[in-house]
Amino acid sequence: MAPVPSRLLTSGSEIPMLGFGTGTLGVRSKQTEEEVMEVLDTALECGYRHFDTAYAYSNEAAIGRSLKKWTSQGKVKREDLFITTKLSPDHNREADVAMSLQKSLANLGLSYVDLYLVHFPIGITVCKVKPAVLQVEANAYFQERPLRTFCQENNIALCAYSPLGSPYKHSGSDQTSVLNDPVVEEVAARLHKTPAQVLLRFLHQLDIIPITKSASRTHQLENIQMLDFQLSAEEMERFTALDKGEAARKFSIHFLPNIENHPEFPF
Ligand SMILES: NC(=O)c1ccc[n+]([C@@H]2O[C@H](COP(=O)([O-])OP(=O)(O)OC[C@H]3O[C@@H](n4cnc5c(N)ncnc54)[C@H](OP(=O)(O)O)[C@@H]3O)[C@@H](O)[C@H]2O)c1
Repeated sequence: MAPVPSRLLTSGSEIPMLGFGTGTLGVRSKQTEEEVMEVLDTALECGYRHFDTAYAYSNEAAIGRSLKKWTSQGKVKREDLFITTKLSPDHNREADVAMSLQKSLANLGLSYVDLYLVHFPIGITVCKVKPAVLQVEANAYFQERPLRTFCQENNIALCAYSPLGSPYKHSGSDQTSVLNDPVVEEVAARLHKTPAQVLLRFLHQLDIIPITKSASRTHQLENIQMLDFQLSAEEMERFTALDKGEAARKFSIHFLPNIENHPEFPF
């Protein structure tokens, strides 16, 4: 498998154009550290080099152990990895940020991370320091078009979480999963690809960096192979027409009490 292509960030780092998400790996899924390490092992074997974690996921230590195993065995160099972690939402006050980053570095067993994100919230149109990367929910049902234009105009790389519509969030919902959308299924079948591959490819061709998670080796391999083909202009147009806007949002910030009173709301 050829290496995942990368994009130069305003920070000077090169970010691989496909990331591996770890949000639901670990204690949140009642997985042991060894089980998380097994998932990371297969992801590294498949060719993933860009990993997305967060202090809040409580899995930095398992991920760090996995990366250490690979670097100490000489199977990968630290400089070939792109590691993202995120500021704990409890530590948004300026005085707490350095301490929080140090905790994450200690958990990961690393001397630096390649990207440190404010987990939430971040008011992108009002922030004083332009970020190199913005990570938001985006997929064919929720395309974030105005935000995409804003990022393109300001040279901010856009990463998409929930690129497959986070199907695990569908239980009990009457919404169709984007993975089962008839247009997605039809285009995938015509190209002899899977729905996940065409959905990831759609984002890739929009210059969005998908961060996708899979605990299964088959899905991990399938997802990285979205780099091996192209969608035509007509297929891109059909996918663009699938946008449902806000109605398709899965991740809400309203679990934070009184968030609507924040001066930068709705961010
Ligand atoms: N910044 C934030 O606030 C924020 C919020 C949410 C998420 N994130 C990050 O973004 C990452 C991705 O988000 P997500 O996990 O919700 O997104 P996702 O990739 O849309 O959804 C992951 C789900 O899709 C399934 N899946 C993966 N590949 C598949 C395939 N080829 N075919 C069918 N199903 C497939 C996985 O199941 P299997 O494991 O069974 O394959 C898993 O249940 C997270 O892990 C986290 O790192 C960040």
